[in-house]
Amino acid sequence: MFLASALGLCLEWLQAYFLVLDDMFDKPHTRRDHILWFRDPKVHMFAAQDGVILRQRIQRVLRMYFREKNYYVDLLDLIHEVEYQTAYGQMNNLLTTIEEEKDLSKYSLDLHRRIVHYKRAKYSFYLPVACALLMSGEKLEDHLDAKNILVDMENHFQIQADYLDCYGERHNCKTGTDIEDYKCSWLVVKALELCNDDQKKVLHENYGKQDPGCVERVKELYNDLNLQGVYAEYEGWSYKRAVKSIESHSSTAMQAVLKSFLVEVYKTQIFRDSESLFIGPLNSS
Ligand code: IPE
Ligand code: MN
Ligand code: MN
Repeated sequence: MFLASALGLCLEWLQAYFLVLDDMFDKPHTRRDHILWFRDPKVHMFAAQDGVILRQRIQRVLRMYFREKNYYVDLLDLIHEVEYQTAYGQMNNLLTTIEEEKDLSKYSLDLHRRIVHYKRAKYSFYLPVACALLMSGEKLEDHLDAKNILVDMENHFQIQADYLDCYGERHNCKTGTDIEDYKCSWLVVKALELCNDDQKKVLHENYGKQDPGCVERVKELYNDLNLQGVYAEYEGWSYKRAVKSIESHSSTAMQAVLKSFLVEVYKTQIFRDSESLFIGPLNSS
């Protein structure tokens, strides 16, 4: 349990390191109800250095407690690979927002899927489970079914984050800036898919501008296109798909792990869908 806790702390630091840097790029006002680290007048750009320290602390803890373990190399390899993929996805996410490169016609579900596949598909869900598997002497290649389910759920988690960036009724811990920042968000991609020529013109004129009037115009357009309804429908579909793949997983022990993620990701959907008998009442978990 001690080692598992130490490893869990390392994964928290990895996430903290990603987010300290991510917040410097995206510049929301708050994160988890707190002022951003880089907005502290005593910190500013030093936050980048603090990110590096957070990252390096992971290495030191791993070396201190895991160096003698026979899974040490696999553990380092796993964390490095997930870190690289996340950084690569973050880079691609940012490249689409550079002033000279701005081009809404490039935004599509396919591009969104590719960005999310890297930037968000592994570090929160797959990575902790994979670490636990290595600790218990398992080979990761024997658990590809579980990996696919976790990656699908984490993909959905990012789509949910994109949705909550604008409609964050239960995500009030972070103020969104995706519209101002010209982000290739699931919402803008869906809007582009559903809009007529006049509405497309409105998007082209107003997306990616800091002016609150422009942001409001984009939000009105999202409402005209009923993106809340479109998202609810998508979430219902995604939830059913996740339940089905978990139910068909061969190991009941792994099913229990996967369900614990399912409950976290699809809270709203589970409340909405009274027929969700699969996981039982939420307060029993
Ligand atoms: C995800 O990117 C954060 C990382 C991959 C580190 P976003 O910028 O979309 O996420 P939030 O909304 O700031 O958490
Ligand atoms: Mn970001
Ligand atoms: Mn961000």
